[in-house]
Amino acid sequence: VDSKTSQLIDLHEQAAKLYHHILVNTEMGQPALDYLHQRGLTDATIKQYQLGFAPDQRLLKPFFEQRQADYQLLRQSGLFIENTAGELRDRFTERVMFPLRNASGHVAAFSGRVLKKSDDQPKYLNSPETALFTKSRLLFNFDLARSAIRQRGEVILFEGYMDVISATQAGVPNGIASMGTSLTTEQIYALERTTDQIDICYDGDEPGQRATQRAIGLLQAHSKMKINVIQLPQGQDPDEYRRAHGDEAFQQVMQSAKETPIRFQLRYLRQNRALETDSERLAYLNDVMPLLAQVHEPVELDLYLKQLANEFNLDQSALVAQLKQVRQTTAATRERQRPTPARPRPAANDP
Ligand code: CTP
Ligand code: MN
Ligand code: MN
Ligand code: MN
Ligand code: MN
Repeated sequence: VDSKTSQLIDLHEQAAKLYHHILVNTEMGQPALDYLHQRGLTDATIKQYQLGFAPDQRLLKPFFEQRQADYQLLRQSGLFIENTAGELRDRFTERVMFPLRNASGHVAAFSGRVLKKSDDQPKYLNSPETALFTKSRLLFNFDLARSAIRQRGEVILFEGYMDVISATQAGVPNGIASMGTSLTTEQIYALERTTDQIDICYDGDEPGQRATQRAIGLLQAHSKMKINVIQLPQGQDPDEYRRAHGDEAFQQVMQSAKETPIRFQLRYLRQNRALETDSERLAYLNDVMPLLAQVHEPVELDLYLKQLANEFNLDQSALVAQLKQVRQTTAATRERQRPTPARPRPAANDP
């Protein structure tokens, strides 16, 4: 670690400490602390994640100026916005602060959440990319969760910081978040070095479901991890589920609401299809055949075929015949394609 990097980390850790102090010890931080309490977080959790509050423009800048921090370093930290005159102002104001730690546990960036939803402000504002922070590489909570992931033999992939924090408080310590719904290959490689099983637990709303479908494809293409989908009731996200049903129910769902990717995809692909017409039904069956063609365990396959045959009032033998055709076609297609060399994986970026 070069000295500039360690200076930037030092800056971030001082800022995290200051934001946390404002949240838990000052009048200014009281509304934000009440907000977090209302969302069901305990003081221990708030401390564990070093959550904080950024009040107004006048926090970080005077603090670091007083300590005679290097101006160039402040510029490069991403903690400030620079105006055309070259003056720095605090980037984060009026926000609940989530320190984003890298895989070695050092604060590398922040995400700040507005206290009240508004139309002219993004709900979460992240640090810009800096020497310390590459958004596509960071996995929220990976540093704290790593040993639990190893112990339990699986990682739970959430969308949001609050989902991870909520899960930890509920006694589910092996959760991480992909910084929103866009899982990346870099994140997958980092996870695969730690575990061979991943449970996708994205939000139960449309964007969350779409992202689940995308994540399944990406994980299958870039890893050998065994994938499960944890399905929450319509519309809820994991944090909302815990708030509504309690810690024990939350633990229960994380253990028992697992389904195979195919089961998820069978349901996902039929959304927004009016299955009353023959053509829509056939289109749906055409969509799912290539998925079923990849299932090689006879019992698992039988499970899905029975369900489809029942739902669509078909002979299971007709489905089997069609499946055989699909398999032959894909095999023939594969034959015709020239083999492409496997792409090399990026070098390990673990500490
Ligand atoms: N996100 C973001 N910027 C936004 C909205 C979302 O970076 N404007 C990222 C955050 O990492 C967030 C995640 O996407 O945690 C999931 O988004 P969403 O489900 O909308 O937020 P929640 O995590 O549910 O946040 P909260 O419960 O605080 O509303
Ligand atoms: Mn309170
Ligand atoms: Mn969401
Ligand atoms: Mn959410
Ligand atoms: Mn939420």
